[in-house]
Amino acid sequence: MDYQALLNIIEKDLESFDHQGKVASYIPELAFVSPNKFGMHLHCINGKDYFIGDSEEKFSIQSISKVFTLTLAKKHKSKIWDRVDVEPSGNPFNSLIQLEKEKGVPRNPFINSGALVIADILISCLENPKEELLAFVRYLAQDHDIYYDEKVAASEKSKGYRNIALVNYMKSLGNINNDADDILDFYFHQCSLAMSCSQLSKAFMVFANEGKIIGTQERVLKTKSIKRINAIMQTCGFYDEAGEFSFRVGLPGKSGVGGGIVAIHPHQYAVAVWSPKLNAHGNSEKGMRALEELTSLTGLSIF
Ligand code: DON
Repeated sequence: MDYQALLNIIEKDLESFDHQGKVASYIPELAFVSPNKFGMHLHCINGKDYFIGDSEEKFSIQSISKVFTLTLAKKHKSKIWDRVDVEPSGNPFNSLIQLEKEKGVPRNPFINSGALVIADILISCLENPKEELLAFVRYLAQDHDIYYDEKVAASEKSKGYRNIALVNYMKSLGNINNDADDILDFYFHQCSLAMSCSQLSKAFMVFANEGKIIGTQERVLKTKSIKRINAIMQTCGFYDEAGEFSFRVGLPGKSGVGGGIVAIHPHQYAVAVWSPKLNAHGNSEKGMRALEELTSLTGLSIF
């Protein structure tokens, strides 16, 4: 497959893409990002790279980090599913409403409440949670040049009312063990991770390669756990737009309010795209379109 030719077609087709959406601004620091950035990077199972646009520029990965923390939690603790469920929520990523009826057990690990429970689990089982998460992401990407953006973390902390509410509410319902401030500090840092499309596509190869690092073939997680994480990406990776993403793109993936989306085609590739303007569900508008075009042009998805 000549992926470079396909990416070039996508770049040209979307040159004059008519955005309706806006760059996220509820995290003040994200509003400074240039709205017309666009990059895409595909890393193939055979190790080859294909890319267009701003694919080497780092951006805030935000909720994409929830896939890394879930993977790290699975590595350290086998029993997490009594604390967080695996059902799509059909609600916005920062919603509080289901928690009351469902006794503080979040619908899935990719909505904010679920990611906060995973953060709580990691704080309980890691000695230096922030350092160990950063080292893990660097290991997955096989790249040391990845870091927390302290400005973004501080910016989210200054306005993180929803997440503060979520963690305290779940604590009142008995599903949070650690100090709320420690969990929030960890969570705001994981979301602030700065990575490029190139780095993200490499880090996500573990999900396309049955749980092994591409190149070295070192095993990170069991194939069964990877199957499950991919299934949760498919059903919950885009919140109340998970159905639409499956319908249009047909791959497991995860988005973030920094405008990034990563998707994987098992045994084929991982692809990351970045365009900061978001639709009403908090997902990159042009990013979704680019991925839709990719699976239409290749004629291949998981369906
Ligand atoms: O907690 C938040 O609201 C952000 N740090 C992350 C949300 C996010 O990326 C949702 N994704 N599309």
